[in-house]
Amino acid sequence: MANPTLQQLNDAPPDQALAMVDGLYEHSPWIAEQALRSRPFRSLAHFKHCMAQVVHAASRDQQLALVRAHPELAGKAMRDNRLSTESTHEQNKAGLTNCTPEELARIARLNTDYASRFGHPFVLAVRGPRGSGLSKHNILATFERRLHHHPETELQECLRNIHRIVELRLNDKFGITPSLGNQVWDWQEQLSVFSDPGYAEKGQLTVTYLTDAHRSCAAQIASQMRECGFDQVEIDAVGNVVGRYHADQPGARALMTGSHYDTVRNGGKYDGRLGIFVPMACVRELHRMQTRLPFAIELIGFAEEEGQRYNATFLGSGALIGDFRTDWLTQKDADGITMQQAMEHAGLRVQDIAALQRDPAHYLGFVEVHIEQGPVLSESDLPLAVVTSINGSVRYLVEIVGTACHAGTTPMDRRSDAAAGAAELILAVERRAAQDANSVATVGQLTVPSGSINVVPGRCQLSIDMRAPTDAGRDALERDVQAALAAICERRQLRYTLEETMRADAAPSAPAWQARWERAVQALGVPLHRMASGAGHDAMKLHTVMPQAMLFVRGQNAGISHNPLESTTSDEATTPPMLNAPHSCCRQWASRWKNTRYHRPRYKQWAWSRSPIWWPAGVMAPARPSCSTPMATWCHRAKAGPMTRMVARSKMVASLAARQRSANATSRPIPSRCAHSKPWPVPPKAASSCYSPTMKSSVARSARPGCSSTTSSIPTW
Ligand code: GLV
Ligand code: MN
Ligand code: MN
Repeated sequence: MANPTLQQLNDAPPDQALAMVDGLYEHSPWIAEQALRSRPFRSLAHFKHCMAQVVHAASRDQQLALVRAHPELAGKAMRDNRLSTESTHEQNKAGLTNCTPEELARIARLNTDYASRFGHPFVLAVRGPRGSGLSKHNILATFERRLHHHPETELQECLRNIHRIVELRLNDKFGITPSLGNQVWDWQEQLSVFSDPGYAEKGQLTVTYLTDAHRSCAAQIASQMRECGFDQVEIDAVGNVVGRYHADQPGARALMTGSHYDTVRNGGKYDGRLGIFVPMACVRELHRMQTRLPFAIELIGFAEEEGQRYNATFLGSGALIGDFRTDWLTQKDADGITMQQAMEHAGLRVQDIAALQRDPAHYLGFVEVHIEQGPVLSESDLPLAVVTSINGSVRYLVEIVGTACHAGTTPMDRRSDAAAGAAELILAVERRAAQDANSVATVGQLTVPSGSINVVPGRCQLSIDMRAPTDAGRDALERDVQAALAAICERRQLRYTLEETMRADAAPSAPAWQARWERAVQALGVPLHRMASGAGHDAMKLHTVMPQAMLFVRGQNAGISHNPLESTTSDEATTPPMLNAPHSCCRQWASRWKNTRYHRPRYKQWAWSRSPIWWPAGVMAPARPSCSTPMATWCHRAKAGPMTRMVARSKMVASLAARQRSANATSRPIPSRCAHSKPWPVPPKAASSCYSPTMKSSVARSARPGCSSTTSSIPTW
């Protein structure tokens, strides 16, 4: 039977529509039935969101019944051939129908332990984030890990897995392969094979500045950019991988985008890297179609953002705004290698760093796609969020000095215990940050250098990372923490030193750019979610010289990040509106032009097969009027014959001129500055017009003994 279309689902009578989506939620048709009442759906993402909302709103008993409707993994139902067709397919794909007797015995034991702890079966989307099946090893490791969850956490985890199962079943039913997402996902996997020594052996991902693994990542990204059709690719003087895809005319400004490819220690595969590979997929599509846009695309894989190897962060994006401090070059890593030595070893020319500074007049702005790194999207059953602002932050390295002395002979009231002072400070930091609604503060590193089991600690070193939505909030937090440190040391007769290693001001998104993301997300048909970013991003640096706006993509595993469990799916990687929004815009256009040769059916077929190229267009579309016309023009230029092109173009120019007149009268232009610490350069002239520019154009040193976590990871001990 042919795959149904969304249109057919929207148009069918209720019972037929329900039959079309039969078997999505295991033995639970009530979910689709209720969700179908929200028809028409604007996209499958919209339909999925509505179904997830039904589950969200259901009673706890209904949710438990849904979980219990699932079969045990490789359990009795599978052995007795009583699985639903969908479950059979899924368990097959993960190789569960082909287990050894030992594996079956182990799974049976886990099923029993799990059922007695939680009272429901273990539910896992065994087809995994790529849809091609998790390995048995992965399945068993996940099963064992989740046995330790709190029951409430685990119930939510089961429900999230159920939604993922449904997503995959829906893809099957509608004949959808998220091929761009698969490509992005595969690139992420391929990059994750490079990891620093000491971590690689344990299967952990750690890529710090200019290590062999780091340089291999740069080389791989550069070679992938070349394969994708970038016109110029280079690794610059700080190790950024810079790819440029030219505009359709010389001298046009560029849209800058990208994110970082370094990682925290034992981190995830998506933090930073998603923001490199999503735009890379877009350029690949542009190149495949032999299409140029009226602006260049400059994609940057930033060499360093996490501040892991040296006490310096944002080395990559900082260099682009002229914020590379030469005193960093003499800093040593844990092995005594200075940054300058590391750079020379990597063949980078330190003397060329200053020349990396970009002239903002040559850029339209900066956009960054990033995994959310938190639970918000996952809890709200939403694939995307638009970032309103990036929190301001400050980081310190603190050393507390007391007196090292005999642990057995020194009475408790005669000690100056540096570690006890640090412990008190950690609690004070935690209390103070919790007083503000959105502030956070973390002591991610803590060590007693040369400590012994029988010596009262004479020295203790720790890091403090403090963040708040506003600079004023961050400064107040910082003042109070410093006061607490002084008071604690005074009372305990300790000394301390404090070294500021990073300070970044809060970075509100440029309103016009945020609005472009918003329109693109809305075109997906899912509710628009705006949020501040608690994490720091390269966009904070670019923010000081050009308008910026970010898009967040939902993470799996409740959005966990700076953790190997950080994950996204190939469906999520396909979801960013750069890959979808154009559909609706272009379809509007197509219906307006249906009487031309470039008529709707032909257009539709074209648009659905090639939509990804519209990502930059979605981003660049003017605030008003609708973005459909400029984007459609490109599509037209790219595909239509000369006659069609001429007719359509003259009509379009007339319509644009009319729109321009009304837009001039009513539209809000892109402001030259927003609530922003420093002024941006004057925005591109055409950006405020309807005929938009789219047409014209750490702190942490390397791990110290006794401390493997990093300043921005919450310690797990
Ligand atoms: C970067 O990942 C940060 O610490 O926010
Ligand atoms: Mn990070
Ligand atoms: Mn990041």
